[in-house]
Amino acid sequence: MILPPQHPLSAGRTADSRLVRAYRGERADAVPVWFMRQAGRSLPEYRELRVGTRMLDACLDPAMAAEITLQPVRRHRVDAGIFFSDIVVPLKLVGVDVEIQAGRGPVFGRAFADAAAVADLTAIDPASLDAAAAPISDAVARTVAELDGIAPAGGADAAASATPLIGFAGAPFTLAAYLAEGGPSKDHLAARTLMHADPGAWRDLMHWTAELTGRFLRAQVVAGASAAQLFDSWAGALSLEDYERHVAPASARALSFVHDLAYETGATDASGAAVTRSVPVVHFGVGTGELLGAMRGVGADAVGVDYRVPLDVAAERVGAGVPLQGNLDPALLAAPWPVLEQAVLDVLRRGRSAPGHVFNLGHGVPPQTDPAVLTRVVELVHEASA
Ligand code: CP3
Repeated sequence: MILPPQHPLSAGRTADSRLVRAYRGERADAVPVWFMRQAGRSLPEYRELRVGTRMLDACLDPAMAAEITLQPVRRHRVDAGIFFSDIVVPLKLVGVDVEIQAGRGPVFGRAFADAAAVADLTAIDPASLDAAAAPISDAVARTVAELDGIAPAGGADAAASATPLIGFAGAPFTLAAYLAEGGPSKDHLAARTLMHADPGAWRDLMHWTAELTGRFLRAQVVAGASAAQLFDSWAGALSLEDYERHVAPASARALSFVHDLAYETGATDASGAAVTRSVPVVHFGVGTGELLGAMRGVGADAVGVDYRVPLDVAAERVGAGVPLQGNLDPALLAAPWPVLEQAVLDVLRRGRSAPGHVFNLGHGVPPQTDPAVLTRVVELVHEASA
């Protein structure tokens, strides 16, 4: 599907932004930077806005979700907004009993760890998300309308007139890890058991989850997001063999919901036909050093790397021509500035091994982070890479 002419990519407002160019494997005037969990508890304005509102209620309030998404963009002048939501929001929207407990994470009314439970879950039609996703589309549209008026910092690049929004979804395995356990766990044992104990039930669970989360991602892109990130946060719990056999097909299925979304570049090819480009897709997981090549293989344009594998090593593992995102250890945000500064410069240096580099952390911003430090990191990344 060709995105509508008013979409920021189609309209040319974000198609040549630093972020989108880096995801295409190009180098712009500076390395783009954003932070996973930039929207959230490290910001006093977030904590203030959230008083008295539960996490999932905040996600489903379009005005509040848009405002929280914009807070870190205004404050840090990052090169992208990441939509404020959660990986379990599509489950909530189709009626699954789930809440997010502070300090713990998503907790379900029951666990889905055997064939009977999986049958109950998959009786819900994932296509019912399309109608239920209105608050998400509304929140994205509001966010994008504001981001159109915010040019990224240090704007030597006149083409980058608006700040792009990144949409995201949880990958089927990470969602299934919560669903099978009924809540957060360290080793995701219930999911890892189910995939071997009952491969049929596992396949049903993964297929259903892929259909649901893929639709959630698609809704955000159609409503105005300029890139899409699939979070397989807990895939690092798997061997490469289990990943390829029991997980990768479902992740590929989830991404198929955005692969057909394209925009016209305004150029024409030799035969006079309009040149189109697809929306860039990033795939990230924690502790996935062994899986980087396979994670690219499910249909990602760029790969997010956690802090355990240096970017120059990751570049070899994913193969030539793959843009990378990452990977400052979040722990360093609390280190003295000279230590942090050297670490940022080291990430930038190693990032040159990839055709495009988007600076990020190796995982989310810790809640106790001093926001002024994040702002300073953004400035350093822009200055040092210009
Ligand atoms: O700024 C951003 O990155 C965008 C917003 C975002 C949130 N969750 C907001 C959030 C994104 C992209 C997510 C994705 C998400 N949610 C993931 C994948 C990324 C990752 O961290 O690996 C996962 C695994 C979840 C599930 C989840 N939701 C967890 C583990 C938690 C933390 C629980 C806690 O309190 O420590 C949440 C809650 C959550 N999601 C918060 C935010 C801002 C904190 C809620 C609060 O403010 O009380």
